[in-house]
Amino acid sequence: MPEILHCNAASGAYDITIGKGVWEKFSSFPGRKLLVRDGNVPNPGIEADGEIVLTPGEQYKTFAAVESICRKAAQLHLTRKDLFIALGGGVTGDLTGFASAIYMRGVRFIQIPTTLLAMVDASVGGKTAADLPEGKNLIGAFHQPDAVLIDPAFLRTLSFADLTGGMAEVVKTAVILDSQLFDSLESAGEDAVLAPDFDDFYPGIIRRCCQLKAQVVESDEKEKGLRAILNYGHTFGHAVEQKSNFTIPHGAAVAIGMNTAGTLAAELGMWSASEAVRQRKLLELFHLPVTVPAPFEVAELLEIMRTDKKNDASGIRLVLPEKIGSAGTVSGIPEEMMLKAWEKCHD
Ligand SMILES: NC(=O)c1ccc[n+]([C@@H]2O[C@H](COP(=O)([O-])OP(=O)(O)OC[C@H]3O[C@@H](n4cnc5c(N)ncnc54)[C@H](O)[C@@H]3O)[C@@H](O)[C@H]2O)c1
Ligand SMILES: [Zn+2]
Repeated sequence: MPEILHCNAASGAYDITIGKGVWEKFSSFPGRKLLVRDGNVPNPGIEADGEIVLTPGEQYKTFAAVESICRKAAQLHLTRKDLFIALGGGVTGDLTGFASAIYMRGVRFIQIPTTLLAMVDASVGGKTAADLPEGKNLIGAFHQPDAVLIDPAFLRTLSFADLTGGMAEVVKTAVILDSQLFDSLESAGEDAVLAPDFDDFYPGIIRRCCQLKAQVVESDEKEKGLRAILNYGHTFGHAVEQKSNFTIPHGAAVAIGMNTAGTLAAELGMWSASEAVRQRKLLELFHLPVTVPAPFEVAELLEIMRTDKKNDASGIRLVLPEKIGSAGTVSGIPEEMMLKAWEKCHD
């Protein structure tokens, strides 16, 4: 039986349905449908009125891709009563969501996430975006989906790197919100990624992460406060991602970012050093990188962090853990401390 969770966001409520074949539910939604599909994901049998296939990869998360989705919709004469369907990972979901937020000033859309990262994080919460050459996710809109339909079976074809990348966001969720989830990840150990169990373990962690994300979004949809904690590891991580020209994927960069943020929090006395080590070990258990590759200059990484859109007048704003299961936002940390943390987490 599929499981149904709810996300009652202020701008619109929707169901998150998890189970085998739940993507078929898209057909019960009224309206003509434009399927936006990641080129690496075969169509499982979705019959839409039109289809656009996106070139996979973060480097194609561009405004040009958003425009091509909107133009396809216009060529099909789709109206505001019609529906976009995103079938793919976080890139496809973010682009389709953004296109649906602006096409005719807003049409409905459905998320059918096919990567672990999108199932546990990106598909829920209504943040949509494209990148600019100047930085990641610099354009976008808040636009909640009408439904999120998660079939963990899509994970079976995912690469090892994309599976572990998704685990980075799962560890993030555990560190900031749920110590029990953290304990269960530690007990699952390396087998979680080496011998993945798509029938029990993965549906379980997807359910828990969606529940937690929905709760955060319900209390702070537009990121006025609490929602910012979901950016844990991302300010450091985005710098790595950008500096690598996206050759280091999002999840791996977030893992490096969490280790750096955790090291800084321990250095500042905000977090216990032993918990910071537990976090690093858990990331390593899932075969995630925890240090910045040698050629990257720490000063350059810090410079990228200065342009982060979450910063305020007192400087770079960071999410730092307080204990496993809880985190807070801090600003005004001396930049020398950040450089020191980067240096400690550098090859
Ligand atoms: N909106 C949000 O709240 C939010 C949250 C977290 C991340 N994100 C964004 O999500 C993006 C990262 O998402 P991602 O890791 O899913 O990346 P992605 O969409 O690039 O997918 C990763 C790779 O997996 C392939 N793929 C997708 N589904 C597959 C399947 N079932 N089998 C085999 N291959 C498959 C894709 O073609 C791609 O090569 C980033 O752009 C990030 O900024 C958004
Ligand atoms: Zn992320």
